[in-house]
Order: sequence, then structure tokens, then C-alpha cells
Amino acid sequence: MTDSEEEILDEPASLLDPKPILEREVSPLAPPLETLPIVEAPPGQPMVEYLSVNLTYPNGVQALKDVNLVVKKGEFVFLVGSTGSGKSSLLKMIHRELEPTTGAVYVDRQDISELKKHQIPYLRRKLGVIFQDFRVLPHKTAYENVAFALEVTGVHHRYIRPRVRRALELVSLSEKSHRLPGEMSGGEQQRVAIARALVNEPVLLIGDEPTGNLDPDTSWDIMQTLSQINASGTTVMVATHNSQIVDVMRKRVLVMQRGTLLRDEERGRYTAQPEARG
Ligand SMILES: Nc1ncnc2c1ncn2[C@@H]1O[C@H](COP(=O)(O)OP(=O)(O)OP(=O)(O)O)[C@@H](O)[C@H]1O
Ligand SMILES: [Mg+2]
Repeated sequence: MTDSEEEILDEPASLLDPKPILEREVSPLAPPLETLPIVEAPPGQPMVEYLSVNLTYPNGVQALKDVNLVVKKGEFVFLVGSTGSGKSSLLKMIHRELEPTTGAVYVDRQDISELKKHQIPYLRRKLGVIFQDFRVLPHKTAYENVAFALEVTGVHHRYIRPRVRRALELVSLSEKSHRLPGEMSGGEQQRVAIARALVNEPVLLIGDEPTGNLDPDTSWDIMQTLSQINASGTTVMVATHNSQIVDVMRKRVLVMQRGTLLRDEERGRYTAQPEARG
């Protein structure tokens, strides 16, 4: 196994599992199913909840200050705010890359601070994560990158091919499934990353500046893809600096400022609108 393959094993996006928890083929190393009593929430129920969350990094930086937030199942949420305002810190708590210093984070109605270390892969299998720098494996084709996300969870090989094909179809990459990342544009590589995040049918898709390295047209393309995925029921949370897209898409907008939640607007905009006069 190469270094980058080992690295991807640590990524939440590679640890997804599509089937309801009781139907999973459990690898011999996996903990018993009853150790993680997470049941998928029905529409409208909370998917992510932050309760009085504070985060202080070891160097003393207070990155999050008393954040209270509920994201419901099926929502599409933009997280915006200037650099250093706490967006990534907030998202990293969902897959337990970070834990609150005080307060609690619930994902799918489970207080995730209660999860033991060996249970964290089960949490991550419910999530798809997309990053600014794509993080696709350079020596694997588009197909192999997506298939790898299933292979590491022990999905039987006969289920892999149809699911990878469907995921690549969803991101319009069927024709390029045999290409290596080096033979694809940045936008295409990001679509491979989206297919990889999707192949396990996560309940929640998290994007941390997924269009940060892409040109405006490609950024639109990626956000439209995320919007379509959301339309099929997946909850989506996206941190972005792309004000144009946020202003046109008019989704729920959460604005962070110096570690606090400054605004929370349904059908919001990137920048606060001045009060109407008269
Ligand atoms: N590992 C870390 N150790 C110490 N401080 C950190 C660490 N990561 C982030 N910070 C600090 O925490 C604060 C929030 O950072 P965060 O990365 O969450 O911001 P952000 O909103 O995602 O910014 P950007 O838009 O630049 O991605 C910043 O002051 C940052 O310098
Ligand atoms: Mg960030």
C-alpha cells in the first residue's frame, strides 16, 4: 500500500458504507453493530446539532465560542465568513477530527463525544467529505479511486462495480472512468472526489471549500452537482468563500465571525443586505 493509500484510509470519505447498518458486511476487525446505536433521522429531524460548543486549540486560540446550531435532515447549508472565522473547525467536529473543549455535537441524534475510538469509523461511514484540494489517489483511475472507498469498508466485490458506475454517472464522469487524476482537469478530479464521497450513500455530505481551487464555471458545475445530491435527500453543508454562488443559490446561509455564529438566514446571501428604507 502506498503512503497516499494509507492516508486515504484515515479520510472519512473513504470509510463510508451505503447500506442500512444492519445489512452491512462487517469486516472481521469491525466492532459489533450494537456498539453504535445510530438510526437515521427522518426528514426534518436534526441531522447535526451543536450545543454551546466552544473550541480552544492547544495554542490557546479560541476558534469557536458558544456555537448553538441545528441543521435538519435534507437541508443545504452554506457556511461563510472571513478566513479564520471558524468554518473548518466547525465542520471538523462532525467527523470527530476535532472535539469541542466544552459543549456537545450530535450527528444523527447521537452525541458523538460518547463514541469510543473504535466506533468512529462507523460515524464516518455515514458521512461524505470533500476538500478544497480534492485528495484523490494519484496512481488510481477515477473508477479505482471510487471503488477503493468501498473496498476499504469490506463491501463484497460483486456490489462494487454497479455502485461505482452509478456514482460516476451521477457526476457525469462515466466516459472518463479509466483516466488517472493527472489526466483530468481540477473540476473532473473534484467530481471523482464527490463520487467517492457519494458511493456509500452518506446521510450527510460536508464540503470544506470544495470549489476553492476551481474556475468560476467549474465551481458552478460542482455546486449544481451538490445541489442535485441534496435534492435526492442528502443533507449538505458547504463552507465557501464563493459569494456569487451563495447569492444566486439562495440556500440557508450561516455566517461565522471570530468563532461565533453571526447570522443564520433561510434563503440567505453572502453579505448582509442593508435594511430596506422607507
Ligand atoms: N490546528 C490549529 N491549531 C491552532 N489554531 C488553529 C488550528 N487550526 C485553526 N486554528 C485557528 O482557529 C481559528 C479558526 O480557524 P479555521 O480554520 O476554523 O477558520 P476558517 O473559517 O476555516 O478559515 P479559512 O476561510 O481560511 O479556511 C483561526 O484563528 C485559526 O488560526
Ligand atoms: Mg477553512
